[in-house]
Amino acid sequence: MSHRRTMLAALSAAGLALAVVAAPAVATAAPGKPGQPRYSAGADGAGDPYFPLAGNGGIDLQHIDLDLDYTPPAPEPAPLEGQLDGVATIDLRATQDLDRFNLDLRGLTVHRVTVGGKPMAFTQTENELVITPRPKLKAGQGSQVVVEYGGTTTQPRDIDDELYGWVTTRDGAMVVSEPDGAATWFPVSDHPSDKASYDFEITVPDGLVAVANGTLADQSTNDGRTTWTWHAPDQMAAYLATASVGDYTLNRYTTPDGLEIIDAVDPALPASASASLALAPEMIAFFEDRFGPYPFVAYGAIVDDDSVGYALETQTRSFFSRRASEGTAAHELAHQWMGDQVSPGRWADIWLNEGWASYASWMWSEEQGRATAQTNFDEVMSTPADDEFWSLVVADPQPHGLFAGAVYDRGAATLHALRVKIGDDAFFELAKEWVERFGGGTATTADFTALAEEVSGTQLDAFFQTWLYAPEKPTTW
Ligand code: TRP
Ligand code: ZN
Repeated sequence: MSHRRTMLAALSAAGLALAVVAAPAVATAAPGKPGQPRYSAGADGAGDPYFPLAGNGGIDLQHIDLDLDYTPPAPEPAPLEGQLDGVATIDLRATQDLDRFNLDLRGLTVHRVTVGGKPMAFTQTENELVITPRPKLKAGQGSQVVVEYGGTTTQPRDIDDELYGWVTTRDGAMVVSEPDGAATWFPVSDHPSDKASYDFEITVPDGLVAVANGTLADQSTNDGRTTWTWHAPDQMAAYLATASVGDYTLNRYTTPDGLEIIDAVDPALPASASASLALAPEMIAFFEDRFGPYPFVAYGAIVDDDSVGYALETQTRSFFSRRASEGTAAHELAHQWMGDQVSPGRWADIWLNEGWASYASWMWSEEQGRATAQTNFDEVMSTPADDEFWSLVVADPQPHGLFAGAVYDRGAATLHALRVKIGDDAFFELAKEWVERFGGGTATTADFTALAEEVSGTQLDAFFQTWLYAPEKPTTW
């Protein structure tokens, strides 16, 4: 009893103490000063449970101008280390009253930060560049942040130990940053929820080619170094930016429909490694028919003679390791609509990227008179029910499951099953409306299932539960 009474007394004392402490804070923040800014620090992440430090709170990127100077490693036996020096000029908008905000940056050293042209205090942790703007930024206010930085580049790896980010090669760099590797080469809010337009000026030793996203605006050589200027005016997620450097041969042409194509292929590769690139105009026309107009200013590919072990749908300029097979070329091209123009709202939504791109590759195969989409579907469904393939929840694959086979193949099978269920008309209306409605930004699985129901006029809860959430092989749907 007495014990309980003591506790109650202590509690009420604590409550009183809290009220006393809390009162001044409330008093300074609100009464009498409506609309007065309440400054706080922007969050160190965008709130993605899979990658908590990816992206940043309190800011909204508008435009990123990257001025990069890169020297690849010396010939063997010199270590495989490059030298990268950069000036990132970032136009952003505050989304809350900010006395501090972060950008993501890893493995490079910041020398100087200015905000609004004035030098600012900053600190760096392993993943974050922390900037203290003065004057503080008010919500809605636009600001230009300039970061001077640089350092030694190596071969970064993602959480699955796959090469990604600024991957140093003997003759340059392969730059492919999914999901959170952009921070290995420039300061950015490294999450698809914060897209921006980009410009690149990349200076490399004369004889090397630097290939970024968008269109090639200029190329000029001075004192043995060549500066390559690229414009990428379309909204782009950081992981889709590239600035690959190599001994590339550029092939520029325009499709019959007037789209500029710029391919960069390492001449050390046999012609067969890049033969499928010639199909791009035909493939683009095919996917435009299914998904709507090609969304960006240009397209093309980079085919490097080094390998990161996979290809990536770098925006407007798909990246291929050593070989661009026809199926992979179709897959990466389809990603330009599905993944690049409409990007995952959270990394848990990755099946919307990989399922669509894989399904698009099935459609292309069928169009070419090879295996039909139904045949590919049947092939996936021939996997025995007790195979661990079926145990992955494709709509929540966990960070280490982002690129699991089921995300691709069960994702594609889900779309095929949906197509058969709602019919071709509704299915392709859904595909086009998806790009139309969410293009330039992001969307989630919930957005997709809601749109599928809206377009088809069908209740699809059980269907999507079976295909996207049940950790077992679908039997009826
Ligand atoms: N998104 C790439 C594609 O399917 C694949 C990818 C990115 C990947 N990172 C990876 C595949 C790591 C395996 C491992 O086009
Ligand atoms: Zn893919």
